[in-house]
Amino acid sequence: MKPVRTFLPVFILFSALLLVSCATEPAPPAFEPEVLPLPSDPANYAPLDGFEAMSIPADNPLTPEKAALGRQLYYDQRLSGDGKLSCYSCHVCENGLTDGRPVAIGAFEKVLTRSSPSMWNIGYHAEFYWDGRATSLEGQALAAWKGGNMGADPDQVVAALNQIEGYKQQFQNVFGSNATAENVAQALASHMRTIISQDTPWDRWQAGEEGAVSDAAKRGWEVFQQANCTNCHSGVLFTDLVYHNVGIGMDDETPDVGRYKVSEADRDMGAFKTPTLRDISQSAPYFHNGSVATLEEAVDLMLAGGIDNPHLDTANLQPTELSDEEKADLLEFLRSLDQPCEPNVPKLPE
Ligand code: HEC
Ligand code: HEC
Repeated sequence: MKPVRTFLPVFILFSALLLVSCATEPAPPAFEPEVLPLPSDPANYAPLDGFEAMSIPADNPLTPEKAALGRQLYYDQRLSGDGKLSCYSCHVCENGLTDGRPVAIGAFEKVLTRSSPSMWNIGYHAEFYWDGRATSLEGQALAAWKGGNMGADPDQVVAALNQIEGYKQQFQNVFGSNATAENVAQALASHMRTIISQDTPWDRWQAGEEGAVSDAAKRGWEVFQQANCTNCHSGVLFTDLVYHNVGIGMDDETPDVGRYKVSEADRDMGAFKTPTLRDISQSAPYFHNGSVATLEEAVDLMLAGGIDNPHLDTANLQPTELSDEEKADLLEFLRSLDQPCEPNVPKLPE
């Protein structure tokens, strides 16, 4: 009996020490997301004169914390089916927030049929994709994630995200729940609503800074308006957000029907959403099928009145003759829409 009695206090002391050492063991540092201020007041999201306020769904209010979470997800390759792509992979700064390829190559090397569009000011759009088939940014984000672009199984990815402490904390903090396919899409959409171009040399000139652009660019802005480019590339978004047939790809063996697939209206055959011209000099190659390599050729094609076909939007687009100097000025104006861009890759939870 004696050995047991002397052993007991030792055992208690040892257990107590163990407890103390467990309690003082430093917990792994909590993930600190980098939360950026929103580019503008979310209640009245109209950063510049001329921008309509952004329409933000009532069930997905924009907060800095949610945009920060969405930004991490947007840059995280763990969201894709093959672990190799993030949303950002195809919407890259150096390429005007496109991917620099004629048509995109999705997860598992899947060759897609269309070119990556720019993300600048995407939160101001009401319909998404070249054919506008998605009617909310949340719906679009979910589709891009599940579809050929990212090739992911959202349930599987969400389960993995919920194993990552830094993400789990943020989902709890932002949504009051674990990650779900829906709230991932909501966070992604929130980040995308902060991708704003409002500070190009052209914007600064419009705001009164005379020296922000060259005289050639100023003359080019006049040419742009006189050539009726503004019929479609209108307002500060440089898009009317409407679909037009300008003839691209219509002579293919099986042409991409574009908006027609959604509306089934004859006038929408081969019509695509007018792309923004912000950062356009960076986003080669051009058009929905990436068929044109340089900005000069793309502009020549538009000046020629598009490519003739039975559905061409001749009401808005007619051939325009320009002198070499006017054309050079027009290009100089387009380059004044370049948007300074830094990748701004966020730190991701491990
Ligand atoms: C493999 C390249 C690729 C990846 C990865 C990718 N995208 Fe895209 N994205 C595209 C292409 C191509 C389109 C146009 C498809 C179409 O119009 O049919 C597009 C279209 C979009 C649009 C609509 C733009 C517009 O003008 O209407 C948004 C928004 C978008 N992507 C966001 C995302 C998000 C969010 C992710 C990540 C979940 C993502 N993309 C991942 C290539 C990619
Ligand atoms: C009828 C409406 C309309 C008019 C007018 C118009 N555009 Fe476009 N533009 C479009 C559409 C639609 C596209 C995309 C077509 C496609 O990819 O099939 C486009 C594409 C472009 C592109 C390539 C954009 C990209 O991201 O690939 C450039 C550059 C361009 N237009 C410049 C101009 C210029 C310069 C003018 C005036 C000379 C002009 N456009 C007049 C509707 C128009």
